[in-house]
Amino acid sequence: MHRMDYSVMTDSTSPEVAVDAHDSIRAIQWEDGRLRLLDQRRLPFEECYLHPADVAEVAAAIRDMVVRGAPAIGITAAYGLVLAARRRYAQSPAGWRDRLAEDIRTLAAARPTAVNLAWALRRMERHGAALVGDPVDGLLAEARRIHAEDLAANRRMGEHGAGLIAAGDSVLTHCNTGSLATGGYGTALGVIRSAWRAGRLNRVFAGETRPWLQGARLTAWELTRDRIPVTLITDNAAAYLMQSGQVQWVIVGADRVTANGDVINKIGTYSLAIDCRHHGVRFMVAAPRSTLDFSLDDGGAVEIEQRSADEVLNLAGRRIAAEGAEAWNPAFDVTPAGLVDYLVTENGVIAAPDAAKLAALKS
Ligand code: MRU
Repeated sequence: MHRMDYSVMTDSTSPEVAVDAHDSIRAIQWEDGRLRLLDQRRLPFEECYLHPADVAEVAAAIRDMVVRGAPAIGITAAYGLVLAARRRYAQSPAGWRDRLAEDIRTLAAARPTAVNLAWALRRMERHGAALVGDPVDGLLAEARRIHAEDLAANRRMGEHGAGLIAAGDSVLTHCNTGSLATGGYGTALGVIRSAWRAGRLNRVFAGETRPWLQGARLTAWELTRDRIPVTLITDNAAAYLMQSGQVQWVIVGADRVTANGDVINKIGTYSLAIDCRHHGVRFMVAAPRSTLDFSLDDGGAVEIEQRSADEVLNLAGRRIAAEGAEAWNPAFDVTPAGLVDYLVTENGVIAAPDAAKLAALKS
């Protein structure tokens, strides 16, 4: 990553997108033939953009969490393939397609759990197969479409999800599911954005999301930047928050939803769903159709990313655990469909999702 061109951001908004006071952040941009990624490892203290120059750097940006969140990973990989095609076509106008296959494998291996990565790469590959001559413009157009469709899907999910929320309700969310995790607006945070805009929300709570602190570092940054007040809790305060009657909803995103409605999402989501059922708090999952994986019957077969023990043993570069302690660090967990009250996609709301109801969304 150190070879990447580096610039300090002066303005968090992109000129290419319409924004307002509650929606001002775009973490992925394509500008002047370059991919620009807001470096999420450095938030909330520094706002810097990286410009990955080739597939190896894009894959490293995904693996090292410069960019993270299921849809954002897919969109970044799509733009990464544009960079790859530019290089491969310059190297070999006749053989670029075969060489691109290797780049697709490199990107696909960057992180295993979010299905949006494989989905976006498949879509780019299919689109590339039909192109004649220099493929760069055609692939860039497809990457931009994937990006724009995600933004549009998020806005629609926002409206659908917010429609479920009654005036005066409060919500707890987990991880970061906002503009930082998507093409813009967000999945669960998009629902929260829309509900806030509509004046329905009393209070937004965010779990800090150990160990990477997506809640404390990213969601708190994103919401305060977009003028939506947020109250942080430690992850282990969630059950007590529910018992105290302060939240009516938990709203989360997903990295993958399998054919039966099982939800694979940030570690801790499963605990929240169990806590919700016990306390009568409603559990909503907001996920675009690009996150649905009909190739798997249920969540049991999904590869759960295991991340470095260092993320648990250290904090901000400093060891916090006793010397000699080991750590288990799964990045995601599987919430059984039976614990999900509502699944919200861009197509609408599914109450108590199951295989039969999800099948209607199969394209
Ligand atoms: O490890 P991360 O930060 O990539 O995990 C992100 C999540 O778990 C999100 O909840 C998920 O991608 C859905 S948000 C659009």
